[in-house]
Amino acid sequence: MTQTLFSPLVAGDLHLPNRIVMAPLTRSRAGAGNVPGPLAALYYAQRASAGLLISEATQVIASGQGYPSTPGIHSAEQIAGWQRVTAAVHAAGGRIVLQLWHVGRISHRSFQPGGALPVAPSAIRPAGQVFIGSGMADFETPRALETAELPAIVQAYVDGAANAIAAGFDGVEIHAANGYLLDQFLRDGSNRRDDAYGGSIENRTRLLREVIAAVTARIGAGRTGMRISPEQTFNDMHDSAPQALFNRVAEIASEAGLAYLHVLEGDIAGGPGAGVDYGAIRQRFHGAYLANHAYTGERAAQAIASGRVDAVAFGKAFIANPDLVTRLQLGAALNQADQATFYGGDAKGYTDYPLLAAL
Ligand SMILES: Cc1cc2nc3c(=O)[nH]c(=O)nc-3n(C[C@H](O)[C@H](O)[C@H](O)COP(=O)(O)O)c2cc1C
Repeated sequence: MTQTLFSPLVAGDLHLPNRIVMAPLTRSRAGAGNVPGPLAALYYAQRASAGLLISEATQVIASGQGYPSTPGIHSAEQIAGWQRVTAAVHAAGGRIVLQLWHVGRISHRSFQPGGALPVAPSAIRPAGQVFIGSGMADFETPRALETAELPAIVQAYVDGAANAIAAGFDGVEIHAANGYLLDQFLRDGSNRRDDAYGGSIENRTRLLREVIAAVTARIGAGRTGMRISPEQTFNDMHDSAPQALFNRVAEIASEAGLAYLHVLEGDIAGGPGAGVDYGAIRQRFHGAYLANHAYTGERAAQAIASGRVDAVAFGKAFIANPDLVTRLQLGAALNQADQATFYGGDAKGYTDYPLLAAL
């Protein structure tokens, strides 16, 4: 049977009533202690008609933060803040998973406990600058993690996953995309380690394998998804053989029985791409394949009807259209997202985008 955007989808333990997913979107509006506030509950509940909501990236440990006012999932107050969000989403009939995040080298001393250096697989400074609240600063050369420190990193993801379930989330998404810590271990542009976590593809995927194994052992593979971005150059990322690397990552995700693999196809930084064949990646993963990046409703419908993808995640369209599902169903016009209010601020550009009926 030909599937549409509005066909239900089973992804592990997650039962999506439609295939329109809200992509993870950092909005930098957490309150003191990086606790998501009451407005976050309203924001996510407004979008609860999505087949699945994926939360903004959420640091699993204090040292995993790299931007102002991003929420965490490592304190009792943060768990309580998220409980407010999940309760509001569930009351509105929705489903929501939490994106588990550690930024690695994409940070700055000013975010780190004790003003320490950010950590990474290798002491390689990313090109570019970091926003530290008072302005922009150059990235610093991170400190390479010792082999003996890696079990604590794995444990931080496990604790984050357990805390997410305690906060009422329906599952988690392991963030292995966009140049953050797990992606930094995967790609050889940022991983020059000479221990068992660097060098070969087997070694570079080791930390991710350990995180997947430990998280799924704790909360179940059916509640665990993962995001990857094979061609993304954002955050100064590159790899010498992305197809081979991410083919293997897809096999690892499949062997672990993950509910879904969420693939950011292409490069949001606007690079030419590395010619990655996403069909080859999809073929190796036997759970649900979620695609993302610059999809319109039309392209998404075609991709699903052709069987190339199982569901599509929308980013900017969901920022600006809380009722995106209804709009796609009716073929209605979409509100345009206002970039000036993406990060930080209050209700403006967050919870005040108009619904179709109110136009
Ligand atoms: C404001 C903003 C915040 C984002 N935050 C995250 C994030 O927290 N985690 C993540 O994996 N991707 C993040 N992204 C990337 C989006 O999830 C998505 O991949 C990107 O917007 C492309 O999809 P689109 O073309 O449908 O907008 C963010 C993008 C934007 C515009």
